[in-house]
Amino acid sequence: MDQVNGSVVTEFVLLGLTQSLGMQFLLFLFFSVLYLGIILGNVFIVVTVIFDSHLHTPMYVLLANLSLIDLALSSTTVPRMISDLFSDCQIISFHNCMLQMFFIHVTGGVEMLLLIAMAYDRYTAICKPLHYLTIMNPKMCMFLVVAAWIIGVTHAVSQFVFVINLPFCGPNNVGSFYCDFPRVIKLACIDTYKLEFVVTANSGFISMGTFFLLIISYIFILITVQRHSSKYLSKAFFTLSAHITVVFLFFLPCMFLYIWPFPTKSLDTFFAIVDFVVTPVLNPAIYTLRNRDMKVAMTRLSQQLLNSREVT
Ligand SMILES: *[C@@H]1O[C@H](CO)[C@@H](O)[C@H](O)[C@H]1NC(C)=O
Repeated sequence: MDQVNGSVVTEFVLLGLTQSLGMQFLLFLFFSVLYLGIILGNVFIVVTVIFDSHLHTPMYVLLANLSLIDLALSSTTVPRMISDLFSDCQIISFHNCMLQMFFIHVTGGVEMLLLIAMAYDRYTAICKPLHYLTIMNPKMCMFLVVAAWIIGVTHAVSQFVFVINLPFCGPNNVGSFYCDFPRVIKLACIDTYKLEFVVTANSGFISMGTFFLLIISYIFILITVQRHSSKYLSKAFFTLSAHITVVFLFFLPCMFLYIWPFPTKSLDTFFAIVDFVVTPVLNPAIYTLRNRDMKVAMTRLSQQLLNSREVT
């Protein structure tokens, strides 16, 4: 059997979201529709940005990258959560549990770094408009995306190396609908106090640090705009409010999940769902429905599609 460093646990038990059949059915519908929305919305953004040359600007290239990551982030947990809804006993193999944790932290880490890159892009556009094109050149854009991936992967690996070597010998109930470091570490049969601290420090302070960095940068941008002319403040605030909404929605659950010392099952589940389901579906909604360029591009794209169909 799968024995990793002498441990005997080969599978973990995940928590079902609900026992009632009616609720299972409702949640199944609810999450299926949302997940479909996540796939369609985010694929749509990526396709629109790739095929419309008007959108080949740093802001939209970063947005398309964010969409891909959103798609990946929710795919780490949501499909499994949906298919687990109706089963009585949610078993996940040791390896899948480890893989799930790893990919949650890669995609979550990259998402955070991309949000920083997008804030930096807006900062440059608004506070240094004359130098925008020279600073945010394609090379810089590529650098930001590659850096986001390197840091995201490093973050995930740095936690993974500790956990993969832990001995698991007895209890295997994760107590959540997905595997994540804080919960799985508690199941190891050694004293994990120090390790829990390492995970809290790593994930918790990355989320908290990134959150405050982003909030400060947005305040800074707004102050700069106001100093130049209060006329533009409302327009800038309009653009930035989309970013700020996403930032709050994504980071508050993260900070709660990793830093809050008294986890409760229902709040944990709620916040995890906000991060895996609500944020990824809201991103496309916020950025496309409220954005004129994006709407124009969609109209253009659909016309092109219609025309090409008439020709063929
Ligand atoms: C993500 O960013 C890179 C670097 O700027 C870019 O080349 C790539 O096209 C972007 N991905 C998408 C899906 O737009």
